[in-house]
Amino acid sequence: MSLLEVRNLFVDFSTPDGTVHAVTDVSFSIAKGETLAIVGESGSGKSQIVFAAMGLLADNGKARGEVLFEGRNLLALKQAQLNNVRANDIAMIFQDPMTSLNPYMRVSEQMTEVLVLHKGMSKSAAHAESVRMLEAVKIPDARSVIRRYPHECSGGMRQRIMIAMSLLCRPKLLIADEPTTALDVTVQAQIMHLLSEIQQEFGTAIILITHDLGVVAGSCENTLVLYGGRILEYGPTRDLFASPAQPYTKGLLSALPRLDEDGEELHTIPGNPPNMMLDIKGCPFAPRCTYRVAECAETMPPLVNFEGGRLRACHVAIEDLK
Ligand SMILES: Nc1ncnc2c1ncn2[C@@H]1O[C@H](COP(=O)(O)OP(=O)(O)OP(=O)(O)O)[C@@H](O)[C@H]1O
Ligand SMILES: [Mg+2]
Repeated sequence: MSLLEVRNLFVDFSTPDGTVHAVTDVSFSIAKGETLAIVGESGSGKSQIVFAAMGLLADNGKARGEVLFEGRNLLALKQAQLNNVRANDIAMIFQDPMTSLNPYMRVSEQMTEVLVLHKGMSKSAAHAESVRMLEAVKIPDARSVIRRYPHECSGGMRQRIMIAMSLLCRPKLLIADEPTTALDVTVQAQIMHLLSEIQQEFGTAIILITHDLGVVAGSCENTLVLYGGRILEYGPTRDLFASPAQPYTKGLLSALPRLDEDGEELHTIPGNPPNMMLDIKGCPFAPRCTYRVAECAETMPPLVNFEGGRLRACHVAIEDLK
């Protein structure tokens, strides 16, 4: 059984100007211990997928479909049951750790509180476990860092503290929403490396949300490409990089800075993201797609399996994408 299975998820927001279709018919699953990246440009619906799953949608948002965690539909749980899952089984880390760390409490208090409250540990046992977790996320001199306030730590260190906190209850799934965008490139690389070590050491499944395909290579087994609230491609990250099977994925890849082509101009994808307020009949990427055929504006291509473990939604034949 999958650890998490999202089935036909839709997320709509009602606004004074009309309905925003943030997520449209999204289905995917993640196995125990698997790492999955969700990529797509800003506004493509990445965060709303996980917000819906975690019961964190804004008040004007509505989710339908199913989000099964170990077989239980999270969308149908009562708030108290959902809080329980959130405290024990699924942890989330966000772009800016300061939104989740309390500036007025020392790191030690914030960490031990979690264990005393949720695991019934004694204070001293909780303290020892917290130090261990800080060491697990490679914080040098954890015994002294734990006595600091968040503002006494660097951005990269705060992100590590956040990750350590999220691991305290040994979640089965860790969802990291743009965990590195606020950090410089070297620290980003360290954090990504850390996430893959965590996956290996604790067997935690990880969903990494990012607009930057560059951080995905080498850190996630599978990648899901989202555009205009829909999945356009899914598959093993290595295959997706080696032979993208959807024009949008191709566009994302050619927009990546390449180490071997120093100074070469980047190819950004011309055009703008779709208006999520419109009911789009066809493929949302069609207006920007250089490969489009007449059908693309008419019907959304189904997401089909075309090769072991790989899915794509595209009317254009694969041979024609070369
Ligand atoms: N409360 C809301 N009311 C109306 N529209 C919303 C609301 N929250 C999000 N949206 C819209 O839903 C769409 C998807 O948003 P989402 O936050 O999932 O994007 P994202 O892919 O995470 O982007 P980013 O990379 O910028 O974080 C966007 O068009 C956004 O404007
Ligand atoms: Mg987001």
